[in-house]
Amino acid sequence: MTYDVATVRAHFPALAEGAAHFDGPGGTQTPRAVAAAVAHSLTSPVANRGLVTPAERRAEGIVGDCRAALADLLGADPRGIVFGRSMTDLTYDFSRMLAKTWEPGDEVVVTRLDHDANVRPWVQAAEAVGALPRFVDFDPTTGELSVEDIAAHLSPRTRLVAVTAASNLIGTMPDIRAITALVHGAAEALVYVDGVHFTAHESVDLRASGGDFWACSPYKFLGPHCGVVAADPGLLEALRPDKLLPATDAVPERFELGTLPYELMAGTTAAVDFLAGLAHVDSGTRRERLIAAYAAMHQHERRLRELLEPTLRNLPGVQVYSNAQHRTPTLLFTVDGWDNQQLRAELAARGINAPASNFYALECSRHLGLGDAGCVRVGLAPYTDEEDVERLLAALRELLLA
Ligand SMILES: Cc1ncc(COP(=O)(O)O)c(C=O)c1O
Repeated sequence: MTYDVATVRAHFPALAEGAAHFDGPGGTQTPRAVAAAVAHSLTSPVANRGLVTPAERRAEGIVGDCRAALADLLGADPRGIVFGRSMTDLTYDFSRMLAKTWEPGDEVVVTRLDHDANVRPWVQAAEAVGALPRFVDFDPTTGELSVEDIAAHLSPRTRLVAVTAASNLIGTMPDIRAITALVHGAAEALVYVDGVHFTAHESVDLRASGGDFWACSPYKFLGPHCGVVAADPGLLEALRPDKLLPATDAVPERFELGTLPYELMAGTTAAVDFLAGLAHVDSGTRRERLIAAYAAMHQHERRLRELLEPTLRNLPGVQVYSNAQHRTPTLLFTVDGWDNQQLRAELAARGINAPASNFYALECSRHLGLGDAGCVRVGLAPYTDEEDVERLLAALRELLLA
């Protein structure tokens, strides 16, 4: 098992511009193979799905291939892969659909660690039917969201728990298995896991996670801009979304409104295949190669993180908010005396892309005492190399030690 970052970088035309991309948590750069797959599907004869013409069969194949690829990536059943425009879009759809089964006085648990896409849809859907949102806090000092914190907010009226597998702001990875076991043991509730940030860094096993739904976004893991929800097909069979009368009632199509974006699905398959090739393991199933690739990527990111994190923490005036024991290589920080947008602009002037924002993790930013403005975030991606990290550290030394 090897991970050669120079070889990986050669697949990304975007890196030729020369920037050090620490903006991966907002969306990764795209390998050539993904762009080629998108272009190929757009320039090949494609029609509405069907089995008569080659064009129909091609569309059918693109959809089937994409579901199979995502099932391998997520440890899920291909029949349980719902494809959509974005995680936010899909989560709104699922929240409105599930809310139709809630009664006034039912409860929905959300957390302040989460991106707003896994908070607001649930809160608004709950309020629309007279159900009550329950907010779980995390510890702003340690960044930890404990199982006990969730337990304290469960009741016999809990119908759904929405929780992140990893915070896109501070990287915290709560113990999802323990949370799903707790929720399913204590209440008749579903668990909707926001896996958007997690899936970019850790290998996913939906079945082992115990989650009822796993939401993610391929553009965070080298794919095109779209969203996915994976679930057990048996659970999907029991749910009834609003849909057009002539549209099929089959699962998972029942949840996919309108014509599917074949080109984005082809690009997503290519992204999964690209990820599967990262460890240069030639044998085994794609799922096995993906697990090996994530392990190799993990080692690479750990090495870079060891280079970056202690130095960053020791720079004068730097306060790092990413402190949980288990977390992704995503660091949120402020510097005393520096305006976050000014710092971000100085870094950008030095070819370092590290935006400053609440990154839509609004409750999280507020709970950390950072208000709505948030601060600077640097995240590692599969193509980040030592030179990127050295450039960031050199720029920070220059700016902060001047
Ligand atoms: C943790 C997390 N959840 C949800 C989202 C929303 O994803 P999408 O842009 O696919 O709606 C993001 C996007 O930044 C995210 O980082």
